[in-house]
Amino acid sequence: MQRREFLKFCAVSAASATASGVPAADATARPYPRARLVDVRGAPLSASALPVDRNLIFHYPYAGTPCFLLNLGRPVRPSAKLLTADKRSYEWKGGVGPRGSIVAYSAICAHQLAYPTKEISFISYRSEKGAQNRHANVIHCCAEHSQYDPADGARVLAGPAPQPLAAILLEHDARSDELAAVGTLGGEMFNQFFAKYEMRLSLEGGGARAPSPAACVVQELENYCRQQVRC
Ligand code: FES
Repeated sequence: MQRREFLKFCAVSAASATASGVPAADATARPYPRARLVDVRGAPLSASALPVDRNLIFHYPYAGTPCFLLNLGRPVRPSAKLLTADKRSYEWKGGVGPRGSIVAYSAICAHQLAYPTKEISFISYRSEKGAQNRHANVIHCCAEHSQYDPADGARVLAGPAPQPLAAILLEHDARSDELAAVGTLGGEMFNQFFAKYEMRLSLEGGGARAPSPAACVVQELENYCRQQVRC
């Protein structure tokens, strides 16, 4: 989504929330400070060079909140209507990049907030079916087997998750081929995340609630995380 479109979308959403004097039924896009996506050396990521079907991770919109960046290898169209757990509706705008194949989602499971740490991850994207996942090409949380479709706004396909993963809104600059994160859409879980993991995050040095830096490092999940649980 281009920035102008994004701002227009936010303005329309805000207007719908206030015109009637009652809260809107829609889950509006939420802008956060823009963050360029860069590699581990600090060089801007090239969208057209993003590997297909690999788990890439970065932290946005806070320094401690992980997200998946995925190149699904095929154009990803906008979703049909999605619903948050509290029944707010929204429509996700689809993939970005040269082929419209690049998507990003919060990596905090919408069920009980499992997320990738440096030690272990129960949640990741799987292109293959497995013993516990009859769907291929899903984000699968092995904690209780919630499965999300990254090609459909992270809609819940199976398991106990009550809502899709929150989408991370991306911008692609067609001239430079660079990517940036600019906001979220859908049911954010950040407040619950910070409350549940307050002790752990403080033992890790604090700073998890700080806004993401203007340049967010993207890396392979297998390099970020020592052990990935497969199921
Ligand atoms: S925490 Fe992910 S399925 Fe329960």
